[in-house]
Amino acid sequence: MSDQISIPELTRKDFPLLNKEGEIKNNLIYLDHAATSQKPKQVINALVNYYSYQNANVHRGAHQLSAIATQKFENARQVTSKFIGSNSAKEIVFTRNATEAINLVAFSWGNTFIKENDEILISLMEHHSNIVPWQLLSKKIGCKIKFIGITKNGELDLEDAYKKLTDKTKLISILYTSNTLGCCNPIKKLTEMAHNVGAHILVDACQTLAHQKINVSELGIDFLAGSSHKLCGPTGCGFLWSKEDILEQMPPFLGGGEMIQDVGKYESSWADLPHKFEAGTPAIGEAIGMAEAMKYLENIGLEKIKNYENKLINYLFNKLITIKGIKILGPKPIVDKNRAPLVTFNIEGLHSNDIAEMLDASNICIRSGHHCCQLIHKYYQINSSARASLSFTSTVEEIDIFTKTLIDSIKFLKDNS
Ligand SMILES: Cc1ncc(COP(=O)(O)O)c(C=O)c1O
Repeated sequence: MSDQISIPELTRKDFPLLNKEGEIKNNLIYLDHAATSQKPKQVINALVNYYSYQNANVHRGAHQLSAIATQKFENARQVTSKFIGSNSAKEIVFTRNATEAINLVAFSWGNTFIKENDEILISLMEHHSNIVPWQLLSKKIGCKIKFIGITKNGELDLEDAYKKLTDKTKLISILYTSNTLGCCNPIKKLTEMAHNVGAHILVDACQTLAHQKINVSELGIDFLAGSSHKLCGPTGCGFLWSKEDILEQMPPFLGGGEMIQDVGKYESSWADLPHKFEAGTPAIGEAIGMAEAMKYLENIGLEKIKNYENKLINYLFNKLITIKGIKILGPKPIVDKNRAPLVTFNIEGLHSNDIAEMLDASNICIRSGHHCCQLIHKYYQINSSARASLSFTSTVEEIDIFTKTLIDSIKFLKDNS
């Protein structure tokens, strides 16, 4: 690992919370990056700077300050567009988060283009944000949801996907990287499969954007959803990307200010893309902060991040696998194969909440519960699991301390049960 260790050395100083400046000053080990990432000072400063010196509403004011805020906000759209390799900033719709982006597609595109008895193909490993919007749509218009299964290995069963795909399939909606199993799905293959039957594909990239480079044009997909807070940006902002011609055909999702061209007594007309989907005052400072986070990741280099995290996850996995009674969900990492830097596990005879609480007593933050993925937990016939998730700021030393404390905690809990 030593040749790669420079990434945390280079970046960690940028994260106040990881630098003993936060509420928990005593050797905090944050292993919950998949729930939300920590924020570097570049992002925090962008927010402070915006609210201190540039705060004004966008697209409305005749005054200079509004022009500055608008320019910064629209620049954030350009940065987001470049970050994912899209052709135009018009293809970026700012939302509150990835959940809202998926709901936008379900309510606008889904309600328009999906009909009764049409089929939507999702997988058993989806986050609730990529299940519930389709259930709401299905209840409303009578379309069917079908589920791609999981292999014994804990990965997407591509053969099952082939079997479930029919000429009634109108959409494959799938996560790129699983927040529970850690696997990365074959998006190019799934895109080809969707397009072969005339369906669209939506990719939930929440757990991918901070870990590897994504290029929507190269992937050839139709929709992409992302959340700022998973990629070192502020909460309250996310985005939907889609091709201009698809967005043009979609009706607005929410109505109100900013999204109109003209308002009459009983009818209105819509603003140009992407504003027709952005009703009301947007999260201006947060979009600017998200763009700063994207620039920060690009400065480190997403390829470097991917390589470093791949090594780190192998190291963590190989340590955990030796623990007696551990059951890990998802595939074993393979060096150079894309995988999320996280491990989800259970310890025989113990509840994941007890493990997380014991670790918390040593200032180690992990997640326990169903991680908004009840379907995959039901599939494995469990209610909850523990999850340790890393980032490019994580270190081998942290993994060593975490594993040792986990082993001590298991012993304590078993001795006292
Ligand atoms: C894979 C995946 N999809 C979607 C989401 C939802 O993200 P948000 O709550 O920011 O909308 C998450 C959050 O954990 C996630 O991990």
